[in-house]
Amino acid sequence: MTDKYTWYGHGAGGLELGGHHILVDPFLTDNPAASITADKVPADFILISHGHGDHVADAVSVAKRTGATVISNFEIANWCGAQGAKTHAQHLGGGHQHPFGYVKLTLALHGSAFPDGSYGGNPCGFLITPASGKKVYLACDTGLFGDMSLLGDEGIELAVLPIGDNFTMGPADALRAVKLLRPKHVIPVHYNTWGLIAQDAGAWAKKVQAETGAQAHVLKPGESVTI
Ligand code: NI
Ligand code: MN
Repeated sequence: MTDKYTWYGHGAGGLELGGHHILVDPFLTDNPAASITADKVPADFILISHGHGDHVADAVSVAKRTGATVISNFEIANWCGAQGAKTHAQHLGGGHQHPFGYVKLTLALHGSAFPDGSYGGNPCGFLITPASGKKVYLACDTGLFGDMSLLGDEGIELAVLPIGDNFTMGPADALRAVKLLRPKHVIPVHYNTWGLIAQDAGAWAKKVQAETGAQAHVLKPGESVTI
C-alpha cells in the first residue's frame, strides 16, 4: 500500500493512507477542472473544510453512494447528517484517531456559509498523522496566518496549499506560508479553475525551490504524489 495524494482539480483531492481513501472537498460535478466524476470517485472518509459551494458540492451524494463518513466541523457535519450522510463532527484544535490516521482541525482564515446562506461554522484546514508518521497538512481555503509556524513545529511531510489569490492566499503569500510551515513537499491547489484564479504554478514552484527547503510538485488534475 502506497500512501499518496491525488489532485482532482480546484480544492478537491484524494488521499490514500494505509489503504483508506480519504476524499477532500469534493467539488467535481460543476468543476471545469475536475479529473474524476462524483459517481466514480472512491471514498471511505470525506473531509470538508468549509461550507462554500466549491467544497461541499458533491459531498452528500458521494457519502450516500459510498457509505463514507464525513469528517468536518460540527455545523457541516450536522448539515450533511440531516441529508442522510454518516458523519463525525470535530472542531478547531480538536483531534481524533480515525482508522487512517489522527486528524486535527486547524485554523483557516476564510468564510463558511453554505450555498443557501445558512451558517457553516468556522472554516478549517486539516493536519493528518497517518500510521507512517508522515504528516499531511491540508490548508484548504485560507489566507496566510502567522500560526502556520506552530503547524510547522509539528514536522510536516506534505503541505497542500492554495495559490489562486482573490479568494485565498496568492502565490506570494503561499511562498511565505511554505517558509512558516517548513514541509518537505508542497503541492499548489485552488488555482486555474477559472480565469479569476489563474496562476503560473511553475513559476511559483521555482521560487519555492530557490527560497525554501521544500520540494514543490506541480500536478495536473488527476496526477498524484507519493507520500
Ligand atoms: Ni471557500
Ligand atoms: Mn474555495
